[in-house]
Amino acid sequence: MKTLVVANWKENKTIAEAEQWTDGLNKELRIKNEGSVEIIVCPPSILIPILHSLFIIPNSPLRLGAQDVSKFEEGQYTGEVSAKMLKGFVDYVIVGHSERRKYFGETDDDVKLKVEQCLKHNLIPIVCVSHLKQVSKCHSIKVSQMIFAYEPLFAVGSGKADTPESANEFAKKIKAEVGQDVRVLYGGSVTAENVKSFVEQPDINGVLVGEASLEAEEFAGIVKTIPIRTRRTR
Ligand code: PGA
Repeated sequence: MKTLVVANWKENKTIAEAEQWTDGLNKELRIKNEGSVEIIVCPPSILIPILHSLFIIPNSPLRLGAQDVSKFEEGQYTGEVSAKMLKGFVDYVIVGHSERRKYFGETDDDVKLKVEQCLKHNLIPIVCVSHLKQVSKCHSIKVSQMIFAYEPLFAVGSGKADTPESANEFAKKIKAEVGQDVRVLYGGSVTAENVKSFVEQPDINGVLVGEASLEAEEFAGIVKTIPIRTRRTR
């Protein structure tokens, strides 16, 4: 199984900047890419179609994800983008990010509905959680097709990452609760300097990167730093 590296651009980048980033990343990764890392780029939804066309190149390690999805199937919900609309463009959707919970009032019930929409339309939800209660809320859902991202609130956007040991403990607890097949990422102030210490942990399957994903060179540095020996088959 590949190590996952997810770029969460949040509310950043114009079309020109997104094109420049893709160009920069492709150049950087041509130098060193053993193909054991899957890179999932999650731009603002308006940039998804343009990136979709840029990412269709043979053997590209780049995949697309959305940062959010509507909890509704379709209808009178101004401003929303449904799972059905995203399907065909993206393979993954970040769901329940702490910024959605904090600034847009998303509840665990909303997150559950969004996860259900993703699974119904064959998209893989990357469910962001900061405590175990949020994990158990998704329990009734097919967990083998889900990814969890453990993102402690103090670490998101702060420059102060959790310790790899503590992140691994949390990942282990998620797997104990949900099943050993579920993939768990760590997110919160991941950089090229600390990424190795997280992906070397036995229960961490990848990372979710915010700030350090915005510059192509810095982000490529993260991808290239992931040591081959951590690229497990489990
Ligand atoms: P950060 O963001 O890397 O800037 O801490 C991570 C995230 O919000 O997913």
